[in-house]
Amino acid sequence: MTTAIETKVQAKKLAQDLLDFIDASPSPWHAVNSVEQRLLAQGFIALPETNTWQLKSGGSYFVTRGGASIIAFTLGSQSLTESGFRMIGAHTDSPGLRLKPHAAFGSDGLVRIGVEVYGGPILATFTDRDLSVAGRVNVRTSSGFETRLVKFDDSIMRLPNLAIHMNREVNDKGLKLNKQTELPLIFGETEADIEAEKQFLGHIAKALNIKSDDILTFELNVFDTQKGSFWGAEQEFITDSQLDNLASCHAAVTALIAIKNPDSTVVCALFDHEEVGSESATGASGSFLSDVINRITSKLTLNEEEKLRTLAQSFFISADMAHAYHPNYPSAYEPCHHALVNKGPVIKTNANQRYSTSADTAARFITLCEKAEVPYQQYAHRTDLGCGSTIGPIIASNLGVASVDVGSPMWAMHSIRESAGVLDHSYMIAVMKAMFKS
Ligand code: CO
Repeated sequence: MTTAIETKVQAKKLAQDLLDFIDASPSPWHAVNSVEQRLLAQGFIALPETNTWQLKSGGSYFVTRGGASIIAFTLGSQSLTESGFRMIGAHTDSPGLRLKPHAAFGSDGLVRIGVEVYGGPILATFTDRDLSVAGRVNVRTSSGFETRLVKFDDSIMRLPNLAIHMNREVNDKGLKLNKQTELPLIFGETEADIEAEKQFLGHIAKALNIKSDDILTFELNVFDTQKGSFWGAEQEFITDSQLDNLASCHAAVTALIAIKNPDSTVVCALFDHEEVGSESATGASGSFLSDVINRITSKLTLNEEEKLRTLAQSFFISADMAHAYHPNYPSAYEPCHHALVNKGPVIKTNANQRYSTSADTAARFITLCEKAEVPYQQYAHRTDLGCGSTIGPIIASNLGVASVDVGSPMWAMHSIRESAGVLDHSYMIAVMKAMFKS
């Protein structure tokens, strides 16, 4: 029997591990790389999509697509038709700023960086932060090109606010930023404005120890260099960027790694592009998960009916962060559905199927919480407010599997500095483990 104090110590360790994971993952490509490192360290075997797969009973494997989506699984001891797949899904991307192809330009002796808005970030939170960039660069080689990850640990960019003396109504009307003209970041100084792009590419080239001319293309994400931290009187809260949804990715991977020799075949599916609608070759709307499922079932020589029987036995948890009740804004919430920080996983329900939860799948999740001795909460959005969505309904409709939408409660979703509860993260991992064992 573990004591409450042991539970808290364990929860704090898991929360610290989450913050370390996020700080090592400032772009979705880095997030998948962090997941791969953890899986490889635990003996998971990489399966390139282009190769013929060899699967062994009880084996653990992972597949990546496009560098920012990954599916990992461990084959169970029971036959698939008997127990189905136990799957947890989450997304690797977070809303923010992405560099344009010709990002750097000069004006008034400054090198500025043009960005696109990716998904729906709270733009005002990107001002006055210690920003940098991370992502991937395609570098010319003798035989074509190779993809390399790049990350600048120092803060190399910034979006300074306009002084209040020129923006007198900012506290009454809020900070509004024109996405084209007021978002370019300041990167440095230049002798000649025309040299700006060369200077920026030179900076990337130096970091990769290559020539600027060998940079073919890049995808770079703006991130906050400030590390994650604990806060609150008892350090009961955490803050970092990208808690939505790297907290769910970390929980799912931690649970998957913890499960040795499962009865059911357990799957962890992490997708890119959720924040922009999931419709891509690598997103949850694409064929990635069904392709992996088809390859597993065909390798295990299941026929078409056996595959459908397997899917009918399967269960999917769509894990994405939930909106915690903010006491300063009571009118923003449905009065009977306050999700509280450190009070357990939140089951999200929406009659219009913005979430995949049904009464049946919610009941199934509740029984898992009870088994794991974890508290749980139920959330519904205000009826007069538009509700966000997740990968849950997409996966459920594509595969026809039973699915539930859940998440840990958090504050300031889509801010560059989000907050959540220490205990909630360990609760989520515990219930995910219970699901993989079911
Ligand atoms: Co999310």
